[in-house]
Amino acid sequence: MADQLKGRTVFITGSGGVLGSTYVRRMLAEGARVIASDLEGHRAEALKEAHAGNENFRFYDLDVGNEDQCEAIFKRILADGWEPNVVLNNAAITGELLMGAGKPFPDFADTSVADFERTLRTNLTGAFMIARQMDRDIVGKWPCTLVNVASMYALNGAHHPIYDGMPFKNFSAYGVTKAGIHGLTVWLAGYWAPRQATVNTIAPGAVFNNHSEEFQRRVGELIMLGRMCKPDEVADAMLFLASAQSGYMTGQLVNVDGGFSAW
Ligand SMILES: NC(=O)c1ccc[n+]([C@@H]2O[C@H](COP(=O)([O-])OP(=O)(O)OC[C@H]3O[C@@H](n4cnc5c(N)ncnc54)[C@H](O)[C@@H]3O)[C@@H](O)[C@H]2O)c1
Repeated sequence: MADQLKGRTVFITGSGGVLGSTYVRRMLAEGARVIASDLEGHRAEALKEAHAGNENFRFYDLDVGNEDQCEAIFKRILADGWEPNVVLNNAAITGELLMGAGKPFPDFADTSVADFERTLRTNLTGAFMIARQMDRDIVGKWPCTLVNVASMYALNGAHHPIYDGMPFKNFSAYGVTKAGIHGLTVWLAGYWAPRQATVNTIAPGAVFNNHSEEFQRRVGELIMLGRMCKPDEVADAMLFLASAQSGYMTGQLVNVDGGFSAW
């Protein structure tokens, strides 16, 4: 397929990460116009450089935790002449992000309220603010869809022992926000349906990103297919959810986890 997303104008938060940059590349290849966004920094710069000169790509700086920026984002895009009909609530504070920033992973007993609330602000309040702005500026004007991003560790508890001796952990606020975001999906599904807007959740499994062989082995034992997934394997499902082919789906949670959640 080369035009699965023809006619789709996709707005993505947190576009510079492992999965976001894969969605951008794959969606452009499928004929979408892609409006990427992320925090200012090296991820944003790399993404802009990768797609410089592509007339179907544009980029906006956006901190999803900033209410003023969220309130302005669709007005800016519309004023620039593009009309998003697909929105991906993809930005998140992830373990990868904290590890990259050299942040320590405290034990649960030492987790500060400030760190917990900072994660809620980005992963959950940010997703709410983008959805609310979509409601104000887009929903009802033309058919559209929202995809919220959860995780295999949203409605399933983390397997804490696999992180023993690893430079990263699964942290409590992460799972809390990823469970919460599906609550936003099911709440909005019925609320938006009369206005021709759908909303679904994707729950990616463990995505390989240069993890050690030992970590891959430990995670692989928890997964029916026996291995971590490739970013493109999550993108395959994301492309479907972003396409017109998912038009009769709303309020659903799509697990792309190699069978992890089905044991
Ligand atoms: N990689 C995995 O194994 C995995 C598994 C399950 C779910 N997910 C989810 O998929 C999504 C993408 O994950 P990823 O693996 O690409 O993570 P990543 O850490 O590589 O990328 C996350 C992106 O979000 C951006 N971001 C962080 N805070 C932000 C803010 N306040 N405003 C705007 N952007 C912000 C970062 O700059 C980064 O580019 C996340 O929601 C993540 O929780 C990932």
